[in-house]
Amino acid sequence: MTTKGIILAGGSGTRLHPLTAAFSKQLQPVYDKPMIYYPLSTLMMAGIREVLIISTPQDTPVFERLLGDGSRFGISLSYAIQDEPRGIADAFRVGQDFIGTSPVCLILGDNVFYGKLDFLRNALTSNVGATVFGYTVTDPHRYGVVELDAAGNVVSIEEKPQQPRSNLAIPGLYVYSNDVVDIASSLAPGRRGELEITDVHRAYMERGALHVHPLGRGIAWLDTGTPESLLDASTFIHAIEKRQGLKIGCLEEVALNQGFLTIDTFRESVRKLPQSDYRAYCESLIAMQ
Ligand code: G1P
Repeated sequence: MTTKGIILAGGSGTRLHPLTAAFSKQLQPVYDKPMIYYPLSTLMMAGIREVLIISTPQDTPVFERLLGDGSRFGISLSYAIQDEPRGIADAFRVGQDFIGTSPVCLILGDNVFYGKLDFLRNALTSNVGATVFGYTVTDPHRYGVVELDAAGNVVSIEEKPQQPRSNLAIPGLYVYSNDVVDIASSLAPGRRGELEITDVHRAYMERGALHVHPLGRGIAWLDTGTPESLLDASTFIHAIEKRQGLKIGCLEEVALNQGFLTIDTFRESVRKLPQSDYRAYCESLIAMQ
């Protein structure tokens, strides 16, 4: 069964105030695109074509204006409102009807990945239970942290521990079987008063169904949670785009490469773009066909 995608783009983003005073974190620029372009492109590059975007009552209409029904990217986008910030695991309650009986891949709208996504494609085809990833960072206390034994089995998993047991942070990209809906609905709010995604993972761990795949060095997972890390993410994207002359997270291009758009429907999408460097880039892709 094909996996459905959810992008959670809620939260108040207070650490970025006043950037986030008027509109949400996931709409902030990461160099030349709104932040949400990157996680959406990640799902698309993994082959996911049905995506639900969950956001706040104020921001959901803005995401809709930005991305529409997805047809111009050859995908189907729908929207749902999380009326209060009840935590990441609440996405499975809000998204229950959308998920139906499918497996689901959840990505947080502020998580930017760069690199070969085979790790995600493999997880989508092989996952039974939950698959999460591990990424070595210098500041694990800011994230969900997983501890593995020498054989790669999960020993512990904690949300923002003051004394992390490892440097392996869990990025906001998760793959689940359909039972995540039941697991999430049986959770009680944690210390922060929210439904913690780490508690979902702990439930899978207790069933022996939590798989952790460490990502190694080939992948960049960028943080966007503070003004400085947001600037670093922009600088990173800028450096690679400038060097290669190729864009990262250009949704029309991803759709073309994935076969979600034909060259004719791609041309249609590009024709509707305003005159901009972004449009010129897309036009250069037509010329290369
Ligand atoms: C959330 C999760 C955390 C995860 C992080 C990744 O934290 O709770 O487990 O490591 O996203 O971005 P938040 O950034 O919402 O505080």
